[in-house]
Amino acid sequence: MTQVTNTVRFVLDGQIKEAVGVRRTTTVLDYVRESLHRTGTKEGCAEGDCGACVVLVGELAADGKTVNYIPTNSCMQLLPSLDGKSLKTVESLQSADGTLHPVQEAMVTCHGSQCGFCTPGIVMSLAGLSDTHAKCGTCPSRTQINDVLQGNLCRCTGYKPIVDAALQASPTLIQDAADVALLKQIQRPTEATIGLDGQTVIQPVLRTKKGNEFVAPATIAEVAEYLLAHPKASLLAGSTEIGLHVNKQFSRPDHIVYLGNVAELKAIKETATHWTIGAAVSLTAVESLVASAYPDFAEVLRRFGSPPIRSTATLAGNIANGSPIGDSMPCLMALDAELILRKGDKTRKVSINNFYTGMKANALQSGEFIEAVVLRKATAGMAFRAHKVSKRFDQDISATCCAMSFEVAGGTFKNVRVAYNGLSPYPMRAAKIEAAIEGKSADQITADSIDDAIAASFTARDGLRATWAYRSLVARNLVMQFLEESTSEGVTA
Ligand SMILES: Cc1cc2nc3c(=O)[nH]c(=O)nc-3n(C[C@H](O)[C@H](O)[C@H](O)COP(=O)(O)OP(=O)(O)OC[C@H]3O[C@@H](n4cnc5c(N)ncnc54)[C@H](O)[C@@H]3O)c2cc1C
Ligand code: FES
Ligand code: FES
Repeated sequence: MTQVTNTVRFVLDGQIKEAVGVRRTTTVLDYVRESLHRTGTKEGCAEGDCGACVVLVGELAADGKTVNYIPTNSCMQLLPSLDGKSLKTVESLQSADGTLHPVQEAMVTCHGSQCGFCTPGIVMSLAGLSDTHAKCGTCPSRTQINDVLQGNLCRCTGYKPIVDAALQASPTLIQDAADVALLKQIQRPTEATIGLDGQTVIQPVLRTKKGNEFVAPATIAEVAEYLLAHPKASLLAGSTEIGLHVNKQFSRPDHIVYLGNVAELKAIKETATHWTIGAAVSLTAVESLVASAYPDFAEVLRRFGSPPIRSTATLAGNIANGSPIGDSMPCLMALDAELILRKGDKTRKVSINNFYTGMKANALQSGEFIEAVVLRKATAGMAFRAHKVSKRFDQDISATCCAMSFEVAGGTFKNVRVAYNGLSPYPMRAAKIEAAIEGKSADQITADSIDDAIAASFTARDGLRATWAYRSLVARNLVMQFLEESTSEGVTA
């Protein structure tokens, strides 16, 4: 298949759509509303918070017979990343004979809508959940429904009628019988394209006359090669940060390299002791991966943004972005995660604890990128605890998130690792707090000793989201709570 250079091709309700002449940074939301005139999908915040813009993006499943859908905030996603995929908007749900989707029907009967602005987004989030459960023959629980609505704000109705509707609606598959064959037709290449003289041809989705491009490579080698040639290119993973830059700061990168079509980067490799998590693996997948070994890490991820954010956002994007309040980093730091960094055909491993060199500054060299995150598995006697403190429970930014790993041997704490976000210009380990705990028993560790270690570790600074007095108190209490619970729960080597 030859890829044309000014056209994004995707499947919409049994038809191949060709979006011709769009910009690299046109969002899915703008295209859906302004070009497809599907105005059911709404723009509320244009920053991934309200969920009025939720749509379902489909990719052919591994069996080649079905489509896997993920809910996404269409305001955050760039249209060229849709190339080779399928799209379902709220208009896709109604059958040709006018029958509503069971979720829509239940929203009517349960009075789940008032002004209606949030309703299409809510219906799409619930229709995605309904499809997932129909595929495995189960009904969603109240908790699963509450979780799936984390990113859908309704300011009129109150959530009870909406949750009632979700409980009432029977799980139903998304109608996509005609889409599978079409998805096969427009599938992007899965292997590198080699030119006549043996060189790799990185096919753009879009290219302007000036030579600016949106490329969607198929292999890591292509990504690496492209970055060597264009070291200032923007890597696009889940787009939950880049989408913000596009919408709120009017960022218009010349070269965008989309990682979502690189199968190697979407894979998780496993050995007896470690997982190697590719840079394009979604946080939703990481949440499932760590759920039994590190339930607190999974809980931090469960409260990370919302399902449409987590369905595309990645660990690598969180790490590379390097926000002081990035939530995955304290967990990864306390677990001594390593990053595989690639430049050209060379890779090196860097501990995440040595990755940051300053506020929003890191060890990546020009043309280098994060290929994967290596995470050790839990071992016998090891405890891992983490908790995010924020004003709201769901969909909020950390005041601080603390993560801690340790062992208890002979009644004393060993191999202690403590890391925080929100207390310093970038997330970091707190060596002085670790020293205040290492080799001691629970009754030798006082709140005062942890307070002193916190004061010696960080510069006291009030922030928009919390005062220093609050943050440092929470930082101390989390450590004391983790230690106390571990001894009362009898974590022993
Ligand atoms: C509504 C909303 C809620 C959010 N909630 C949270 C939250 O609770 N906690 C939190 O920590 N964050 C949160 N975020 C921030 C964001 O979701 C995370 O930082 C996310 O992990 C970014 O991943 P991404 O794949 O979407 O990155 P992208 O937006 O694709 O990229 C982010 C940056 O990383 C770079 N990059 C991406 N991949 C690589 C790579 N492999 N190598 C090198 N550089 C790379 C990009 O070039 C870009 O500079 C939220 C954002 C939104 C919009
Ligand atoms: S418009 Fe608010 S999440 Fe997209
Ligand atoms: S019905 Fe008005 S915001 Fe939800």
